[in-house]
Amino acid sequence: GNRVTCIDISEEKIEMLRRGQAPIYEPGLNEMIARNVRGGRLHFTTEYAEALEDAEYIFICVGTPSGVDGEADLQYVRMAAESVARCMTHPVIVINKSTVPVGTGDWVADIIKRSQPEPIDFAVVSCPEFTREGSALYDFMNPDRVVIGSRSREAAEKVAQLHLPLRARIVMTDLRTAEMIKYASNAFLATKISFVNAIAAVCEAVGADVNDVVLGMGYDKRIGEAFLRPGPGWGGSCFPKDSHALVKIAEDAGYDFGLLKGVIDVNEEQFARVADKIARHAGGDVTGKVVAVWGLTFKARTDDLRDSPSIEIVSRLLARGAIVRAYDPAVEPGTTDQRLAGIEVVGDPYQAVEGAEVLAVLTEWDEFKWLDFDKVAEGMAARRVVDARNLLDRTGLARRGFEYEGI
Ligand code: UDX
Repeated sequence: GNRVTCIDISEEKIEMLRRGQAPIYEPGLNEMIARNVRGGRLHFTTEYAEALEDAEYIFICVGTPSGVDGEADLQYVRMAAESVARCMTHPVIVINKSTVPVGTGDWVADIIKRSQPEPIDFAVVSCPEFTREGSALYDFMNPDRVVIGSRSREAAEKVAQLHLPLRARIVMTDLRTAEMIKYASNAFLATKISFVNAIAAVCEAVGADVNDVVLGMGYDKRIGEAFLRPGPGWGGSCFPKDSHALVKIAEDAGYDFGLLKGVIDVNEEQFARVADKIARHAGGDVTGKVVAVWGLTFKARTDDLRDSPSIEIVSRLLARGAIVRAYDPAVEPGTTDQRLAGIEVVGDPYQAVEGAEVLAVLTEWDEFKWLDFDKVAEGMAARRVVDARNLLDRTGLARRGFEYEGI
């Protein structure tokens, strides 16, 4: 029921949004935008002054990409804070949702103070975002917790009020602690996945099944089953960036975060291990051989290719001279994207396997499970599958004469 105005510096994005179209793929988002635009609650603009006119709360939700040393690049946060400061006409609460290094909240307060043409009261609150791509709307509406950090008790309570309809647990703390909670959460989740991928490597060496190991571990409430799916390694726009940033934050503060460095190393090893496995199934030397790939995005139900484990693995195969033909339900053939350089992207999963020595499943799109594997078998030069997401029915494949290896 709140009235919301979204600001972006990109005219193009704002134009798309005004037409009711989200510039990213997120299930349910277009419908939600349309519903709220129709209801007169949601507006889009490129003008700060217009958006700030009668705003009580200002959320900063800009990108914080990786800088040269892995530290978060805060230029967009700075620009947003300066623009807010210049256009403020009355007291406001500035809430930072972007993932930012510890201490950024204080820095933002400083920037606003220095950039204001005349002093107007404001408070800075940290309220980190925990939504996942692909289930962002659900995650937002059903949060496990809402974290609110501020120096101002009054501002923190107002932001808590704003979140009350979500009926979530609220953690009230100071600015720095709230910022740390976000990094610690992402780093811990990445640690869980690297841990299970390392366990999978040991399982493969000793002849145990990691899937049942995870089942047996996950039932222990202290461990939990979430984020213990073995796979090709973790990726996306957050885990890689945020884990490197936390290593840097710790280093700058005089702590050598060896554990987290190990988590990152295990992830890099996982890309190499999966690439090796694919090459091994194609006979060792992949030069000039066709490798079919299903899945390019960093996980299913998103069209995001940023830091995709699939692309990491494919680039290792390309470097060894393989011909990679890939299909992904969210990537159109002919898509011009630097990250897809050297990959032949096709619009059909059966076309991808045509003449292939091996099929690698690198993203867990559900639809891959229900394909016609007799047709897949007919098209391939050899019936071999490396399933880096443990997605396919291995018994069904074995029945059709496939050589199958998962994680
Ligand atoms: C993540 C956090 O989950 C979210 O809370 C934060 O706000 C942003 O970063 P997201 O980047 O959308 O969200 O992806 P997520 O679903 O967490 O997956 C990250 C990576 O880990 C993907 O590559 C995924 O395939 C991999 N993963 C996840 C596994 O390999 N195994 C798992 O069990 C879970």
